[in-house]
Amino acid sequence: MDASQSLRFILTITLLACSSQRPAHANSWWSLAMNPIQRPEMYIIGAQPLCSQLTGLSQGQRKLCQLYQDHMVYIGEGAKTGIKECQYQFRQRRWNCSTVDNTSVFGRVMQIGSRETAFTYAISAAGVVNAISRACREGELSTCGCSRAARPRDLPRDWLWGGCGDNVNYGYRFAREFVDAREREKNYPRGSTEHARTLMNLQNNEAGRMAVYNLANVACKCHGVSGSCSLKTCWLQLADFRRVGEFLKEKYDSAAAMRIGRRGKLELVNNRFNPPTAEDLAYIDPSPDYCLRNESTGSLGTQGRLCNKTSEGMDGCELMCCGRGYDQFKTYKHERCHCKFHWCCYVKCKRCTSLVDQFVCK
Ligand SMILES: *[C@@H]1O[C@H](CO)[C@@H](O)[C@H](O)[C@H]1NC(C)=O
Ligand SMILES: *[C@@H]1O[C@H](CO)[C@@H](O)[C@H](O)[C@H]1NC(C)=O
Ligand SMILES: *[C@@H]1O[C@H](CO)[C@@H](O)[C@H](O)[C@H]1NC(C)=O
Ligand SMILES: *[C@@H]1O[C@H](CO)[C@@H](O)[C@H](O)[C@H]1NC(C)=O
Repeated sequence: MDASQSLRFILTITLLACSSQRPAHANSWWSLAMNPIQRPEMYIIGAQPLCSQLTGLSQGQRKLCQLYQDHMVYIGEGAKTGIKECQYQFRQRRWNCSTVDNTSVFGRVMQIGSRETAFTYAISAAGVVNAISRACREGELSTCGCSRAARPRDLPRDWLWGGCGDNVNYGYRFAREFVDAREREKNYPRGSTEHARTLMNLQNNEAGRMAVYNLANVACKCHGVSGSCSLKTCWLQLADFRRVGEFLKEKYDSAAAMRIGRRGKLELVNNRFNPPTAEDLAYIDPSPDYCLRNESTGSLGTQGRLCNKTSEGMDGCELMCCGRGYDQFKTYKHERCHCKFHWCCYVKCKRCTSLVDQFVCK
């Protein structure tokens, strides 16, 4: 080996060593939302198995994949639902939950244990509970079926209990196994920053799952002669996922700032507040500056973002553009207008085009 060769050799080794310290962050099961997952019936037993093709699974998650192959499509759907909802809830904020690639999905911002990271873990875990619970009800999974939740005590006596309900019990349990697997297989020293982050993730995963579990409610349908509703059948039904998103957004606003304590548990930074319950979000790091693009934090910055000139909220140009100012341009807006109801039963609209002002951050 000559000098330049050996230097290259050493560089390669160092690069490998560096990259091997970050794999847990580089890939995530969130990537299941980005790439289409083939249904297991497309795989012949013994052929190239589904699970070895999926990137982003931890060891434990890969094992679960082998045992529950038919669940994987729904985990992917759940993650996608979670990400979509995250983008909706944060559409008017500096950090808007945008995805940056297919493997890490959100990029480096998730390496920071911020409030935003807390929300992202919670909403994606919630998405999995939601998707699996629904899939059980729809008979898509071999290991679960309709909900077997007990009849609620306060259900009026003459209402029937037992329509086929969403199986939130199963969805919750499976999501706990799957989503938490990657945290549980880590073995960081107690009290280390990495350990703190693991505890934070577990807390937020659980908060997300509990949101879906607790918001599921009784739904009923009337039977009886000509809609008299003399008879009702009721079952357990998932809440609309938008409600889960709104609920978790409130939890985001009231998230608890934590740090690792001497006994290796998370404790409040400011103990005048109440400690978080299992349903609350928690974070350990301050948020990075989302105003400017920064490769090291993964912040995309707000340059080029649309803002609202008259709003005083986060979507207003002042806050969104972080005081950098904005550019104005005109654009055509297409809308449905002059809608008329026609008997019976449709609505006919015209398409109107108008010139509107738009504002974009500098
Ligand atoms: C991500 O995956 C999708 C679907 O497989 C693909 O269309 C897209 O090109 C990928 N994007 C990147 C950046 O690899
Ligand atoms: C990026 O963020 C880091 C951490 O906050 C900061 O130290 C650094 O100065 C920033 N870099 C740029 C180019 O703004
Ligand atoms: C979210 O922010 C990114 C980066 O600033 C931007 O490219 C993207 O268009 C934004 N998405 C929405 C829906 O505003
Ligand atoms: C801008 O903000 C104002 C005040 O909050 C609101 O009334 C208006 O509908 C917003 N405009 C757009 C285009 O969102």
